[in-house]
Amino acid sequence: TAGTVVLGIESSCDETGVGLVRDGELLGHAIASSMDEHARFGGVVPEIAARAHVHAIGPVIGEALTRAGLTLSDVGAVAVTSGPGLAGALQVGVAGAKSLAYALGVPLYGVHHLAGHVAADTLAHGPLPDPCVVLIVSGGHTSLLLVRDLVRDPIVHLGDTLDDAAGECFDKVARVFGLPYPGGPVIDRVARDGDPASVAFPRPLTGPRDDPYAFSFSGLKTAAARWAERHRGAGTELPVADGAAALQEAVADVLTRKAVAACAAHGVGTLVVVGGVAANSRVRSLAEERCRAAGIELRVPPLDLCTDNGAMIAAVGDLLVRAGAAPAPLDLSIDPSAPL
Ligand code: KG4
Ligand code: ZN
Repeated sequence: TAGTVVLGIESSCDETGVGLVRDGELLGHAIASSMDEHARFGGVVPEIAARAHVHAIGPVIGEALTRAGLTLSDVGAVAVTSGPGLAGALQVGVAGAKSLAYALGVPLYGVHHLAGHVAADTLAHGPLPDPCVVLIVSGGHTSLLLVRDLVRDPIVHLGDTLDDAAGECFDKVARVFGLPYPGGPVIDRVARDGDPASVAFPRPLTGPRDDPYAFSFSGLKTAAARWAERHRGAGTELPVADGAAALQEAVADVLTRKAVAACAAHGVGTLVVVGGVAANSRVRSLAEERCRAAGIELRVPPLDLCTDNGAMIAAVGDLLVRAGAAPAPLDLSIDPSAPL
């Protein structure tokens, strides 16, 4: 109902996020990340992530409330990511959310992580137009969606990646280039000093006979690895900045080309780009360029709402509350591989 403060909890991967939302307005949020503990393993270690959530969840709830100028007694509903994600990590958030909801005597809502990414944009730019095309690009997902009412209508999958996610591609190529994990932000930074036209990396699945909305990034990873091998074999120093810029250009080109084509084909006037890779500077600038040329409105959340956070989960909870959706039972289960 209107005026309800929704507390959202996100714990599907390495970020423990808590956010507070009321009537579409972000009141405050806080995040703790265990990324530093995973970096030396070159990927998120599920057991370490779960333990880190156990440590962080209490303090992060407290921090989010403080930032919002609220106390627990102000909370009128609790929303939590129930999937998809790492099982042990999800369990911590769901257990915490259930305890809170039970103790406070308020309704509990299970939220799909990707619906959260979509809703993140509403906190910055207001309600989503119906319909809109959403490009979700993160470490685990790369999908083009046709979204009507996020919590009332089914989401239509226009296309998905057939192999790696875009963020996974950045992370894997960064590793090949000898850059630290997670590679996405590092590639972005290093690419500033590189020439995007220096290497002609492929643009997978952009041929006339290819599925216009399907993605594939594993071939790009292989192409980048071959390019690095050729340099190393020749004994020349790897021009990492050029490689990073060219890779980033290829990924941004494919993502934005297909997203804009989806808008045009479906007569949709708004493109929303969300997920960790929406933080990429070239994805953002190329999306802007192409949307402007095509007369499409582009919406991209601010950086801190692109990557995983609790505010986006609270945002979906807030929409569910206001739509009069039935709360989840207190035996709500996690769904690590939840379909959208
Ligand atoms: O949405 P997110 O925080 O978590 C998932 O749900 O996966 O996305 C994380 C992914 C990682 O692969 C990371 O490398 C990538 O987003 N990423 C970036 C940038 N910032 C984060 N990729 C490219 N450029 C960036 N600036
Ligand atoms: Zn995510």
